[in-house]
Amino acid sequence: MSVLASRLSRIKPSPTIAVTSKARELKAAGRDVIGLGAGEPDFDTPDHIKEAAIAAIRAGDTKYTAVDGTPALKNAIVAKFKRDNGLDYKPEQITVGTGGKQVLYNALMATLDPGDEVIIPAPYWVSYPDMVLLAEGEPVIVPCHQNNGFKLMAEDLEKAITPKTKWVILNSPSNPTGSAYSWEDMKALTDVLKRHPHVWVMTDDMYEKLVYDGFEFCTPAQVEPALYDRTLTVNGVSKAYCMTGWRIGYAAGPVELIKAIAKVQSQSTSNPSSISQAASVAALEGPEDFIASNNEVFKARRDLVVEALNKCPGLSCHRPEGAFYVFPSCAGVIGKRTPDGKVIETDEDFVTYLLEAEGVAVVQGSAFGLAPYFRISYATSTEALAEACRRIHRACEALS
Ligand SMILES: Cc1ncc(COP(=O)(O)O)c(C=O)c1O
Repeated sequence: MSVLASRLSRIKPSPTIAVTSKARELKAAGRDVIGLGAGEPDFDTPDHIKEAAIAAIRAGDTKYTAVDGTPALKNAIVAKFKRDNGLDYKPEQITVGTGGKQVLYNALMATLDPGDEVIIPAPYWVSYPDMVLLAEGEPVIVPCHQNNGFKLMAEDLEKAITPKTKWVILNSPSNPTGSAYSWEDMKALTDVLKRHPHVWVMTDDMYEKLVYDGFEFCTPAQVEPALYDRTLTVNGVSKAYCMTGWRIGYAAGPVELIKAIAKVQSQSTSNPSSISQAASVAALEGPEDFIASNNEVFKARRDLVVEALNKCPGLSCHRPEGAFYVFPSCAGVIGKRTPDGKVIETDEDFVTYLLEAEGVAVVQGSAFGLAPYFRISYATSTEALAEACRRIHRACEALS
């Protein structure tokens, strides 16, 4: 009898972490590799946030805290939702976890019974389907096409809803496409959801602040107040505040759900790091001008990459509204042959070719539920990006 639970055979390790590790290994072995796989800003955490963490250590903030967040952090999160999203929450409607990832995972563990369905628009963040499977739910994947900006269409959402639907997961701006829902886009979805009162909304707003060209972010409970009582609004400090390593994410929602999430957390990890929580208070309450200057850099990189990729034979790249990803189609290289005679049959073949021939590490679209595409994270230096684009261009030209 295997020591491993059968539950585990339903899931796979994170493919994005796998690509990042492979690129790291090749680099360690002396290969010249440009890693465009990692989903984290290359900017350092701002000093005022680091200083708050140091002060917390000195002040002896080094003990267990309340399981789902300190009162100070919950108050800062309440203020954030009011200020940025016009949403009113009380501290007991807030939960804090070890990254947005843990909050999403705990929410699914706390709510899914075997057979419950979760609607996940594809391309999706790699962890959603596997988290649903671990919680013994059933992911219902709804493809979202490039000609709709990779966004979920109201009629496709309507068709995917069944009596077993527990949640729909929305993610705007999206990992992996960077697509973001305007107020009108979101209203079309919330109008559908309003008609199906048994469906709950899990909105992953992790990239809220990373939007370009004056795009205005919105979140479902703000667009449709009737959904407030069945929406879990998930957010975190990882991306906007350059704090991926600090591991703080949070969510707001109905008290019963928030208590259930805390119950799961109380029997697994307990509180997130006390020091990271203190740093997150400084992040949420402090100046945000660095976000605007980081966004200028991100926007310039996005434009550089989109323009360069659209010049590569066989590739076509949609210009997204936010996050730090682009999701180009590689349909035009499928069926072509590499210089050493291999036929590119899938997007996975194409990314393997890019890594082996040119040392550029990207992630295949099939890992995110839509092929043939690949994801580039442009959260890396502009020089490295420009060089990666030159290499991708050369690799595409070398195909016959
Ligand atoms: C869409 C999305 N949601 C959630 C997360 C998890 O964020 P955290 O690092 O706070 O756990 C990520 C991180 O890559 C993400 O891209």
